[in-house]
Amino acid sequence: MSGAHFSHTTVLLNEAVDALVTTPDGLYLDGTFGRGGHSRALLARLSPQGRLVAIDRDPQAVEAATSGDQRIDDPRFSIHHTSFAQMAPLLASLGIERVDGLLLDLGVSSPQIDNPARGFSFRFDGPLDMRMDTTRGESAADFLARADERHIAEVIRDHGEERFAVQVAKALVARREGGNPVLTTGQLSEVVARAVKTREAGQDPATRTFQALRIFVNAELEELEQGLSASLHLLSPGARLVVISFHSLEDRIVKTFIARESRDVVDRRAPFAPEKAMRLKAIARVKPSESEIRANPRSRSAVMRVAERTDVGVAA
Ligand SMILES: C[S@@+](CC[C@H](N)C(=O)[O-])C[C@H]1O[C@@H](n2cnc3c(N)ncnc32)[C@H](O)[C@@H]1O
Repeated sequence: MSGAHFSHTTVLLNEAVDALVTTPDGLYLDGTFGRGGHSRALLARLSPQGRLVAIDRDPQAVEAATSGDQRIDDPRFSIHHTSFAQMAPLLASLGIERVDGLLLDLGVSSPQIDNPARGFSFRFDGPLDMRMDTTRGESAADFLARADERHIAEVIRDHGEERFAVQVAKALVARREGGNPVLTTGQLSEVVARAVKTREAGQDPATRTFQALRIFVNAELEELEQGLSASLHLLSPGARLVVISFHSLEDRIVKTFIARESRDVVDRRAPFAPEKAMRLKAIARVKPSESEIRANPRSRSAVMRVAERTDVGVAA
């Protein structure tokens, strides 16, 4: 089933665009197109000389941008099916050396969550897939069919902060060994609900396990690390990096990266440590307003961090 008709409510729409656009004639990169909420607002803000390159690793996002009634028909815009971790080779292939701003609005889009065929949600029954890029990689069901109990428990504990990770892993492996591996989101929810002994207010017991498997299957934390480090060399002096995270594991990576790249020397303890030529300056940390949270509860956990590239001495 195509995901083009599902919609996504953009989080921190104006805040992100305001933070990103420093020159309306610039060239910007939206590394997480989704359904293009930010991209459309960016295009509205840019001059006829401006340009926007968009990326999404989900083929259905790219399809939504290029065909059907939501497509973006604008000579200043192009979209590419790849991961933002691969933005450097993509931009090189387009003959682009530097961008004037980069936006990453992390995580999954509502069209991904709301489409049962994608297998992201415990709210709908469907095949346990969870891949953002359906053209490659291993589905969550494939992972659970082959991984040993320790590996499954580690993933659920480390990426979901689930206290009952060991019990969930044991139950999954016991079911698999009984010839009945988990193949659907509904089956996974059932197994988790039996293994997780305490209930958190307002939260389905499967929340943490689903989040953990999604992050693992899509290597979300590794992709983020790679994307951030690639961005440093691609941002023009004065350009902004704007990253919206939805959970503490992501935000910690973004915060640590900005803090590390904001230091003026490589290691302050080294006696003759050279100044770094390329630096970031933290500009802002923004949370959605009360009214945005009321209108779109998904925005509740969002944190936007903004940093600006500043150069000291010679350019990189
Ligand atoms: C929260 S949504 C973005 C929503 C978008 N800002 C909007 O307003 O419509 C996140 C999107 O990023 C994509 N995505 C997540 N990780 C990615 C990665 N490493 N590379 C490229 N796209 C990624 C997902 O497929 C999803 O479409």
